[in-house]
Amino acid sequence: METVLVVGATGNIGIAAILGALRAKRNVLAIVRNQASAAKLFQNVPSKDGITIVEADIVSEEGVKGVVNQVRAGKLPAFQHVYAAAGGAYGATPLLDLSTSELRRFLTLNFETNFIAYRETIPYLLEQKGSTSFTLCTGSQGDIGARAAPAISQGPLFSLSNVACRDNEKTSVRFNEVYLGARVEIDSVAEGTGAIKSSEFADVYTELLSRPEIKSSRISVATKDDLKDLKHNKKIVY
Ligand SMILES: NC(=O)c1ccc[n+]([C@@H]2O[C@H](COP(=O)([O-])OP(=O)(O)OC[C@H]3O[C@@H](n4cnc5c(N)ncnc54)[C@H](OP(=O)(O)O)[C@@H]3O)[C@@H](O)[C@H]2O)c1
Repeated sequence: METVLVVGATGNIGIAAILGALRAKRNVLAIVRNQASAAKLFQNVPSKDGITIVEADIVSEEGVKGVVNQVRAGKLPAFQHVYAAAGGAYGATPLLDLSTSELRRFLTLNFETNFIAYRETIPYLLEQKGSTSFTLCTGSQGDIGARAAPAISQGPLFSLSNVACRDNEKTSVRFNEVYLGARVEIDSVAEGTGAIKSSEFADVYTELLSRPEIKSSRISVATKDDLKDLKHNKKIVY
């Protein structure tokens, strides 16, 4: 059975990725920062079946690299797919009040984590025999610009996606960007706020895993109608 490595596994999007992978009959290798985060994860999935946990610091240069090294050494399950959903920093400091250190914190959490995950896993995916995939979640805040630091930190994720779509177009890695134009929250929170539930957003990943023709594309999700009927466009500009 194939395995999906999930980075940012304990968050709103990470939980959706795990649920989507399990429904698509994949196992999950979930990176968590500590055992408290692992406990949080297990509160939001039906059971521990099919999920392997590994602790790593996804902010550090060594975090995801160490996980890949353990996979190569046979200490953790081999994986064929990656879902990058790290981040979640969402402050509302106005642009002119934003300190350089706060801006850097947003770029570190929302962008660098996913960049590091990409850089450290793509060489491993390219070595695999069959078809593999890398999925990155980005948000429309980067276009709307209503919150300065969250918006700015999405910009480099869009650009990373552009580069990755182009670089992988002719490789065995199916890179796609899931561009989210709605709020997704874990089910217990969404019940109070009316956001899309992680368990609902999970459908997007289940569907994407079963659609090998969707490659180097942006999948846009704005309403519940977009969860199963995927809206996708090639993301390569010549
Ligand atoms: N949720 C949405 O509606 C939405 C909409 C548009 C785009 N997105 C995209 O999805 C990303 C994730 O959103 P989310 O709502 O899932 O965020 P979230 O619920 O806050 O989850 C963020 C994930 O990143 C991990 N993380 C954050 N800082 C960390 C650190 N310093 N060290 C280790 N792990 C850290 C968290 O681990 P812990 O659990 O241990 O804290 C968690 O697994 C966003 O940044 C954005 O790019 C989300």
